[in-house]
Amino acid sequence: MNEKVHVMDHPLILHKISMMRDKDATVKDFRELVYEIALLMGYESTRDLTLIDKEVQTPMGIAKGKAIVKQVAIVPILRAGLGMVDALMSLIPAAKVGHIGLYRDHETLEPVEYYCKLPPEIENRQVIVLDPMLATGGSAIAAINFIKKRGAKNIKFMCLIAAPEGIKSLTEAHPDVEIYCGAVDEKLNENGYIVPGLGDAGDRLFGTV
Ligand code: PRP
Ligand code: URA
Repeated sequence: MNEKVHVMDHPLILHKISMMRDKDATVKDFRELVYEIALLMGYESTRDLTLIDKEVQTPMGIAKGKAIVKQVAIVPILRAGLGMVDALMSLIPAAKVGHIGLYRDHETLEPVEYYCKLPPEIENRQVIVLDPMLATGGSAIAAINFIKKRGAKNIKFMCLIAAPEGIKSLTEAHPDVEIYCGAVDEKLNENGYIVPGLGDAGDRLFGTV
């Protein structure tokens, strides 16, 4: 696998992904598991954030500590990426949040944009794009195209489940983007759904059908 693609191997993540996939998981279970997995993956995907030295006055003296120097922007792809935002915000409360609205046309499977609002100075930020599913890769590629057009240079993409087809398309379209996947599944079916996957992530998060 390409060195830019990071597939999770932490036991807690793998355990929770199995629970999340279960067709009998309730909307509440599913939403909580998405949060928990995104939290654990957020930890993994922020390992290389740039640090500066920072001295801290403790009650006992001065500690030579560290602080994150780069500003972070979290950008969920609507709708399903919203389920991962709170987890990343818990880890990085100072992060700003942008939103990109895209849906897949069910006939063509092509992404259709309906909203884009990004934080200021996006060019200086570490951008983390969130979407639970990387299927054909069309939505992730389109979202990252928009973000790059607005000047962003440092972009990571985080998904819970990926299809090999989506990883291939995304790495070809955006070879500079680091990809973090909870799991890589077998294939896409003829309707562009990941098999075995988890079904429609947006519907399972928000209880729509
Ligand atoms: C899902 C998912 C991704 C996209 C992945 O969204 O959340 O955004 O499909 O598919 P792709 O890799 O083939 O583009 P969907 O279009 O169902 O919209 P929703 O989040 O509003 O339900
Ligand atoms: N979007 C989803 O929500 N699930 C899939 O399997 C593919 C795209």
